[in-house]
Amino acid sequence: MTQTTPAVRLRGITKSFGSNLVVEPLDLEIGRNEFFSILGPSGCGKTTLMRMITGFETPSGGSVELDGKTVDRVPTRQRDLNMLFQSYALFPHLSVYENVAFELRVRKTAKAELDTRVREALALVRLEDFAKRKPSELSGGQRQRVALARAVVGRPAVVLLDEPLGALDQKLRKEMQFELKRLQKEVGITFIYVTHDQEEALTMSDRIAVMSHGRVLQVASPTEIYDAPISKFVAGFIGSCNLIDGVVTDDNGGRRVVVPGLGPVPATLPDDFATGTPVALGVRPERTTLTDQPSEGAFEGVISERVFLGDEWTYHVRAGDQTLTVRVPSGEMSAALASLPEGGRVWVSWPAAAGRVLPADATDAPVLNGSPA
Ligand SMILES: Nc1ncnc2c1ncn2[C@@H]1O[C@H](COP(=O)(O)OP(=O)(O)OP(=O)(O)O)[C@@H](O)[C@H]1O
Ligand SMILES: [Mg+2]
Repeated sequence: MTQTTPAVRLRGITKSFGSNLVVEPLDLEIGRNEFFSILGPSGCGKTTLMRMITGFETPSGGSVELDGKTVDRVPTRQRDLNMLFQSYALFPHLSVYENVAFELRVRKTAKAELDTRVREALALVRLEDFAKRKPSELSGGQRQRVALARAVVGRPAVVLLDEPLGALDQKLRKEMQFELKRLQKEVGITFIYVTHDQEEALTMSDRIAVMSHGRVLQVASPTEIYDAPISKFVAGFIGSCNLIDGVVTDDNGGRRVVVPGLGPVPATLPDDFATGTPVALGVRPERTTLTDQPSEGAFEGVISERVFLGDEWTYHVRAGDQTLTVRVPSGEMSAALASLPEGGRVWVSWPAAAGRVLPADATDAPVLNGSPA
C-alpha cells in the first residue's frame, strides 16, 4: 500500500438499533499516524462508531477499510487494531505483568521480545514497580493504566481509546497525555480517541470530529475547530462562545449584521449569507475587551456578575437584550475596572475579525470533510 492509503476509511457507515438511528451515514478517512479525536455529548454515538471500526458492532450499512482493505467480513481479532473500552476489564487472577503480556503470549511472541515489550509498555504507564501485583491490589487509576499498557503492547496499526484517562487525577492525566503523544509519534500508531475533555482533545489531536445526535458536524484541526466553527453547536461545544442572534441587513452602512437592541455589530460577514437572513454571531469571550470608559464601536452595558478564576476574571455584562460573557486576564485588569462592583457601567467591544457569522438554525447541517490533512 502507498503512504497515502489512510489507516481507516469509512464509507457510508451507519448504525440503527431497531428504529433508533444512532450513527447517520458517515464518510471519514483517518490518516496513518494521525491522532484523531471524537468529541460530543453523551449518547451522540461515539462508542458505537468506534465499535463499528473494531468489528465489535456490525454496521447497519456502509463499509470499513483498514489500510486500504475492506474488513467488513474480517473478525475483530484479525483486524490490526486494539480498543481500550470505557469499561475495560482486567483478568483478576493474573498479575499486572501477565495482564499486559496476555495478547503477546496468545500470539506466541518469543520470550525475550515479550519481556522487552511488556516492560516498555509498563514503563510507559509508570507501573514498572507494580508488575507482580494483582488488579485487586491497585487503585482505579492504576488499573486504567494497566489497561492502557495492554492496548498498546502489541503495537497494532490502530488503537481506539474510549476515554482512557477518565479515572486519573489531573496531574497524572497531564503526564499520560504527554506519554501517549510521545508513544504515538515514536511507534507510529494511529490513535482514535474519545474524550469528554475538550482541552485534552485540543492539545493532543491532529484533527477533531465533533458529533451530535449521530452526526459528524465538523472535522478539522484543533485551531480550525476553535477559530472557525461552522455551526452554533460546534462553537458552543468547543470552548465558550457568545452566540448573539441577529440579521443580515443592507442599508446605508453596507452589508452588516444587526442585533436587536445593540444595532450593527462588528463581524466578518461572508458573501453567502443573503440580506434578510437570520444569523448567530459567535464571539469568543477572550476576544472581547472590557473598559470602564466609552470607546468607538463599544457597547454600553452593566455588570450583572463577575467571577475571579485566578488567571482571569469572567464578567457577565448585560447590554441591550444580550448577556455577554467577557474575559479579562488578571494581568490586564485596570484599577478602575477592578473597583467597579456588580451593577457598574462598562463598555464591551471586539474586532470584526472576532465576530464569526453562523447559520441561525439549530439544526446543524453535517459537513463531512473527512480527509486527513
Ligand atoms: N446495544 C444497544 N442497543 C440499543 N441502543 C444502544 C445500544 N448501544 C448504544 N445504544 C444507544 O445508541 C446511542 C449512542 O450510544 P453510544 O454508546 O455510542 O454513545 P456515546 O457517544 O459513546 O456516549 P457516552 O459519552 O455516554 O459514552 C445512545 O442513545 C445509546 O442509548
Ligand atoms: Mg461512549
